Amino acid sequence: MAPRSSPIIAIDGPAASGKGTIAKRLAAHFGFAHLDTGLLYRAVGLIVLNTFGDPADASTAEKAAHDVGVIPKAMADPSILREDRISVAASKVAAHPGVRAALLKFQRDFCTHPPGGEAGAVLDGRDIGTVIAPTAIAKIYVTASDEARAQRRFKELQGRGENVTYASVLADMKERDARDASRAAAPAKPARDAVILDTTTMTADQAFAEAVRIVEQKLNV
Ligand code: C5P
Repeated sequence: MAPRSSPIIAIDGPAASGKGTIAKRLAAHFGFAHLDTGLLYRAVGLIVLNTFGDPADASTAEKAAHDVGVIPKAMADPSILREDRISVAASKVAAHPGVRAALLKFQRDFCTHPPGGEAGAVLDGRDIGTVIAPTAIAKIYVTASDEARAQRRFKELQGRGENVTYASVLADMKERDARDASRAAAPAKPARDAVILDTTTMTADQAFAEAVRIVEQKLNV
């Protein structure tokens, strides 16, 4: 039997660009399943840190990526995964090709068989439009200025009681972006056919409305 072809919406972009919120709202709007693929890498990072391993070490990170606990940890979405130390570990483990390979099947299966029998899937991450779902019907690369993104991330971390400064958040974010964009394996970048959505001066509602417009145009609805 030929594989079922459900519509896929690929949302990529750098840290704190607003892509996660947009992806979640798009999924609810169109009745699609949503996968935040960053949580998978965050779960691998957490497993490595919990065993006092070095996220930069390929074999340690790959072993963690093959741990049967990775997917449930990521799906449970405990707030620990959003901590700043986990962001850094995630971006380090994500640079190893073996880690990416270990997480590929789960993401592709999510696309072909969206959970809950949903009619389609929205995935957000760094390589959705380029590697995971190159045939996605709509691809949006969500971005914003470094300062706007750092400000959002700073507020989010402060709200969770993390002891951070704006300057350290900006510096960490730039370092993470540079690592994600310069790695050899699936570097973070817009797909050639992605629509760029710059949210620097937009409210969350404006960014979402623009994303809906882009997707509707692609879906012909
Ligand atoms: O999206 P989020 O900031 O939660 O992702 C955490 C890290 O996971 C990113 O900095 C990136 O290194 C990695 N990631 C990735 N590919 C994805 C999603 C996330 O490399 N599709």
